[in-house]
Amino acid sequence: MLWFVFLAGKIDLGLHARAHSSVSCLESEWKALLEFKKSLIDKSNRLASWTGEDCCSWEGVGCDRNTGHVVKLDLRNNVVFDRDRLISPSLVNLQHLHYLDLSSNYFVGIRIPAFIGSLKNLRYLNFSSAGFNGTIPPQLGNLSALDCLDLGKKSGGNEFDSTIPLWLFNLTSLVHLDLSSNNFFGPIVPNSLQHWSSLSYLDLSGNQFSTSLLDPLFTLNNLVHLDLSGNQIQGPLPFGLGNLTSLSVLHMGDNSFEGPIPSAIGQLRELTELDLSSNGFNGTIPSSLWRLSELQSLDLSDNPLSGELRNSGHKYRALFFLESNKFEGPLQLLPTDISVLYLKNNSLQGIIPQPDINKTLDILRMLDLSDNHFNGSIPDSLCSLQMLVVLDLSNNQLSGRIPSCIGKLKTLKVLHLANNSLYGHIPISLGHLNDLQSLHLDRNNFTGMVPFSLRYLKNLQYLDLGNNGLEGLIPSWIGDELSSLRILVLESNNFHGDISVSLCKLSSLQVLSLEDNNLTGHIPRCFNNFTAMIVTELDSTRINVTDSSGYIDVYYSEELPVFIKGRMLNYTSSIVRYVRFMGLSGNKLSGEIPVELMYLVGLHGLDLSRNHLSGRIPENIGHLSQLESLDLSKNDLSGPIPQSLSNLNSLAWLKLSFNKLTGRIPSGRQLQTLYDHDPTIYMGNSGLWGDPLDKSCPDGKSNAGESDGDHEDGKESYFDWFYAGLGPGFAVGLVGFLSVLCFKKSWRYAYFGFLESLLNKARVEIALLKRKFV
Ligand SMILES: *[C@@H]1O[C@H](CO)[C@@H](O)[C@H](O)[C@H]1NC(C)=O
Ligand SMILES: *[C@@H]1O[C@H](CO)[C@@H](O)[C@H](O)[C@H]1NC(C)=O
Ligand SMILES: *[C@@H]1O[C@H](CO)[C@@H](O)[C@H](O)[C@H]1NC(C)=O
Ligand SMILES: *[C@@H]1O[C@H](CO)[C@@H](O)[C@H](O)[C@H]1NC(C)=O
Ligand SMILES: *[C@@H]1O[C@H](CO)[C@@H](O)[C@H](O)[C@H]1NC(C)=O
Ligand SMILES: *[C@@H]1O[C@H](CO)[C@@H](O)[C@H](O)[C@H]1NC(C)=O
Ligand SMILES: *[C@@H]1O[C@H](CO)[C@@H](O)[C@H](O)[C@H]1NC(C)=O
Ligand SMILES: *[C@@H]1O[C@H](CO)[C@@H](O)[C@H](O)[C@H]1NC(C)=O
Ligand SMILES: *[C@@H]1O[C@H](CO)[C@@H](O)[C@H](O)[C@H]1NC(C)=O
Ligand SMILES: *[C@@H]1O[C@H](CO)[C@@H](O)[C@H](O)[C@H]1NC(C)=O
Ligand SMILES: *[C@@H]1O[C@H](CO)[C@@H](O)[C@H](O)[C@H]1NC(C)=O
Ligand SMILES: *[C@@H]1O[C@H](CO)[C@@H](O)[C@H](O)[C@H]1NC(C)=O
Repeated sequence: MLWFVFLAGKIDLGLHARAHSSVSCLESEWKALLEFKKSLIDKSNRLASWTGEDCCSWEGVGCDRNTGHVVKLDLRNNVVFDRDRLISPSLVNLQHLHYLDLSSNYFVGIRIPAFIGSLKNLRYLNFSSAGFNGTIPPQLGNLSALDCLDLGKKSGGNEFDSTIPLWLFNLTSLVHLDLSSNNFFGPIVPNSLQHWSSLSYLDLSGNQFSTSLLDPLFTLNNLVHLDLSGNQIQGPLPFGLGNLTSLSVLHMGDNSFEGPIPSAIGQLRELTELDLSSNGFNGTIPSSLWRLSELQSLDLSDNPLSGELRNSGHKYRALFFLESNKFEGPLQLLPTDISVLYLKNNSLQGIIPQPDINKTLDILRMLDLSDNHFNGSIPDSLCSLQMLVVLDLSNNQLSGRIPSCIGKLKTLKVLHLANNSLYGHIPISLGHLNDLQSLHLDRNNFTGMVPFSLRYLKNLQYLDLGNNGLEGLIPSWIGDELSSLRILVLESNNFHGDISVSLCKLSSLQVLSLEDNNLTGHIPRCFNNFTAMIVTELDSTRINVTDSSGYIDVYYSEELPVFIKGRMLNYTSSIVRYVRFMGLSGNKLSGEIPVELMYLVGLHGLDLSRNHLSGRIPENIGHLSQLESLDLSKNDLSGPIPQSLSNLNSLAWLKLSFNKLTGRIPSGRQLQTLYDHDPTIYMGNSGLWGDPLDKSCPDGKSNAGESDGDHEDGKESYFDWFYAGLGPGFAVGLVGFLSVLCFKKSWRYAYFGFLESLLNKARVEIALLKRKFV
């Protein structure tokens, strides 16, 4: 009420009061701003300073020193707009405004108000990520002074859906135009674009543009930054591209370009970033491309490019990505003057290329040659890459031993050598790698004991030694010393003896896989100490890779293929953080299932099959409410199946067969569904009866086993598949995965808003945030 009175008084006093004071704020503009404020919901009270007479001193308001006119309004990420109200047209009174930034607010799907088009002095207009929707009002075509227009959606927001409006081409002063990540479609441009001749920055990424007529674009020869990635542009890349001689950044990734990379690319002498990834470019890389002396990063990944990769003296200071092409042949010399070399998934063969030891060897941070056909042994010379953070040679045909000089790579955080034919002992010198967070030696032929020196790897979070010939006891120092461990995979080795109770100290453990060893004794009761299998919030699994200059900021993620629910699922890193799993199957464990396991309420998978466990299934197994997969088959379990099992609504995979279970099978919709899908769930328990088994009383003749042994059509193959395929229980392995956000454009624009929905694209994990990439 008081406020109202004050306002009224103020208005009455009008211009007289103004005239007396030397304050710069003009009455009409002061009023306009207050009106505008009234139309905003300002929950966080960011406009608290918007009181008093001098609107020029209000937060986000800028005035011309001489005239006192409001010329700047910067409310980026300041206020939240109410769903039911529109932006007050009072802003029209700010006729001298040349800078308006309402970006990163939340306009909940309203259209840009048409009156903005009357602010004819506007030069800077930023409505990016502001939640606007629909079409852009044509009145904006009147803003002839506009040099910067940002309607992009870097972090979720606008949803403009139309073709590019023609009036946009009348904005002849435009220098910077960002329409990224909206729903624009159709051809990009009319035939003649000379109106936009001052344009230097054009970002049209993440829309649905489909034109292949790019030639008009290539007349914009002041362009420095051109981003067309993430559209549906087809056809060859026109030769006219070579006219854009000022271009520094060219992103064309994730479209449907095809044909050769035009040799005209070599005319873009200023180019620093080139991304042509995820297209249909074929043929060889034109030699002119190697002459681009300013190029700092190159991503040609995911194209059917082929041929041999030659070292041509090129200098990439940062990143070099050639994932998933068809490059073949040997690689002579390892380029070491770049930070990231990523040649995953090509057809490269021969021996691992050696670095030129006469050159500087402290630049390369990440070397990924995984998924190729390299053979021979790991060369000692790699040990001179003194600043290496990630070394991934997995999925090749490497043989021999790990060179013991590996301990020199003091900065290594990720060592991934899985799925080769390496043999011998795990080198003791690995224990020198104090920064190591992720060690994958699985699927090789390593023998002997796990070296004691690994106890120094205090930062280790992921350790996968599965599928080797390792032996001895499970070292107790794993539990005592490796307190950061989140994932421990020792499956399919020859470990014997009791499961060390020291493992119970690993409170961060999410995945424990000890399957198919020769372990004996009881399941430790203290397994309820695995806090990470109980709580819901777990940290991200990513491993940062930076170089000292801060030039790159890559991160490496773990992927986790889990054989769960009867099929292979790949959990990408953003998911890995949530996965909890325990597999102890295929050992000689005896005794009862400790009731303490039932406290691990976060578990998604529990596999205790193929052991000698006896006693009853714990009554409160129904506590494990997240459980999707439960396998207790092939033990000596007796007694009834607890009724609480029917509480497990997430259960998609259940195996209780070949035990000595007795009594009535619990009823429940989920259990019935599971049984309908897989009638072998309970087989081999002659004392079970109840609905699913079609046995009406305990004295009835057992037909459960018989019906499944029945060799009817279809049934048999199902049966075979089940035992052949699932025999080993869960197969858990870690697959490190690296990628780079700044070049995986499809991920960059999707990352902020839609990461979750994209996670099911099982291939991937992402993300590299480029910090100081100029
Ligand atoms: C517009 O605002 C966003 C933040 O909301 C910022 O990231 C972007 O750089 C701005 N655009 C321009 C052209 O300044
Ligand atoms: C944007 O507009 C479309 C229709 O044009 C509508 O379907 C969608 O829900 C709107 N989005 C928001 C956030 O209001
Ligand atoms: C602004 O644009 C609209 C539509 O394009 C037009 O009708 C109107 O005359 C223009 N106003 C001015 C002042 O130019
Ligand atoms: C663009 O400007 C020209 C005059 O310069 C005018 O004739 C035309 O109508 C304008 N186009 C649009 C779509 O506003
Ligand atoms: C490229 O430039 C040349 C000469 O500068 C010109 O003749 C040609 O038309 C231009 N090509 C395109 C596609 O603009
Ligand atoms: C590239 O692909 C096109 C068809 O998309 C094909 O005609 C051409 O032969 C291919 N070129 C090479 C070098 O493979
Ligand atoms: C390194 O330098 C030495 C002597 O300067 C030379 O003999 C050798 O060939 C060089 N190595 C390479 C790979 O260039
Ligand atoms: C491991 O060694 C055995 C015998 O030495 C060989 O048969 C087997 O193929 C090797 N496995 C791998 C993965 O190299
Ligand atoms: C359980 O974990 C805590 C640390 O979280 C540890 O101090 C304790 O010794 C562990 N208990 C057992 C039985 O290992
Ligand atoms: C398992 O251990 C027993 C002795 O405890 C030994 O006889 C047997 O050979 C071992 N099996 C394997 C596969 O290592
Ligand atoms: C990794 O980098 C991200 C973003 O740069 C940062 O938030 C996070 O704290 C870093 N994590 C570690 C372990 O350094
Ligand atoms: C999961 O990962 C495995 C091993 O990396 C791979 O063979 C399989 O194709 C992947 N599955 C899917 C669905 O991507």
